Amino acid sequence: MERTEKQLRIGVLTSGGDAPGMNAAVRAVVRTATHYGMRVYGIKTGFDGLFNGDVDEMYPTDVTDIIYRGGTILRTARCPEMMTVEGQQRAAEVVKILRLDALVVIGGDGSFKGANSLSEYGINVMAVPATIDLDMECTEYTIGFDTAVNTVAETIIRLRDTSSSHERCSVVEVMGRNAGYLAVWCGLTGGAEEVLIPENPLDTNAVIERILYNRAQGKKHNLIVVAEGIGGSDVLAKEIERVLGIESRATVLGHLQRGGTPTALDRMHASLMGYMAVKAIKDGESNKVVVYTNGEHQLLDLKDALVAKKEYSPEMYDITKILAI
Ligand code: F6P
Repeated sequence: MERTEKQLRIGVLTSGGDAPGMNAAVRAVVRTATHYGMRVYGIKTGFDGLFNGDVDEMYPTDVTDIIYRGGTILRTARCPEMMTVEGQQRAAEVVKILRLDALVVIGGDGSFKGANSLSEYGINVMAVPATIDLDMECTEYTIGFDTAVNTVAETIIRLRDTSSSHERCSVVEVMGRNAGYLAVWCGLTGGAEEVLIPENPLDTNAVIERILYNRAQGKKHNLIVVAEGIGGSDVLAKEIERVLGIESRATVLGHLQRGGTPTALDRMHASLMGYMAVKAIKDGESNKVVVYTNGEHQLLDLKDALVAKKEYSPEMYDITKILAI
């Protein structure tokens, strides 16, 4: 175990919607901090834990057997208070009272905004991207995405069995908030004929036309993926049935997409990102995000991580349709 000159004290929290792999990231943070001779404090239920003083020192054994567990042992929350100036100032004050030299924030873009506001009040923040939505422009990977795609892919296989037996059309609604990234991946890997995403809304007639075309090619069942940012999967299924006379069923997958054992890929990213966040603190870095770009984990300035909106890939979107005829 290495000793730094001054024994650093760091906090770690998970915030926003949970994502499979958050536990692996927490484990990496606690163990790397211990390796570098730091003291590490787990803040419970996201930023709320700062307001409630729900903070405990963590040791390597506290993170035993969590690398493969879904959810987050630190628990999480969306914290409206962190969107107010008063809340941000109060949170920064608590971090100072706790004498934390740095805070590792594991979460999505809402959590990053909270983290960035803390940095403006003099707190050193290291952010680790974790969301099933993969809707952050700053990074090509966010912890939890692979597990969510695999969960949906597995569910689509089950839906295919029943929809092909009945020669039905299956409309599957997946998460992703205002972004279609998750939906495009689920559509392509699930063999969907059409993917409806907020970035490229289609009208119902276009979907119906696609189904007609594919039936004419000999398809006996259909699969349409709808991003929750578009929604209305039940209405769409009813409309397909009304116009084409093809029995149609909608399935909203909901929160089951967020649970489950993280895949090895998620555990790998979570472990490396958690490690890098703490190593960056040890190296004297401040206010960074650990991102995955061009096949490598790198550090990016936190303030630069929030500027752009992630674009979906039109090519991937088109390939989905080409492959589903
Ligand atoms: O950001 C992750 C996510 O699962 C989104 O896909 C979804 O829109 C949202 O969280 C749901 O949030 P909640 O669990 O608070 O209902």
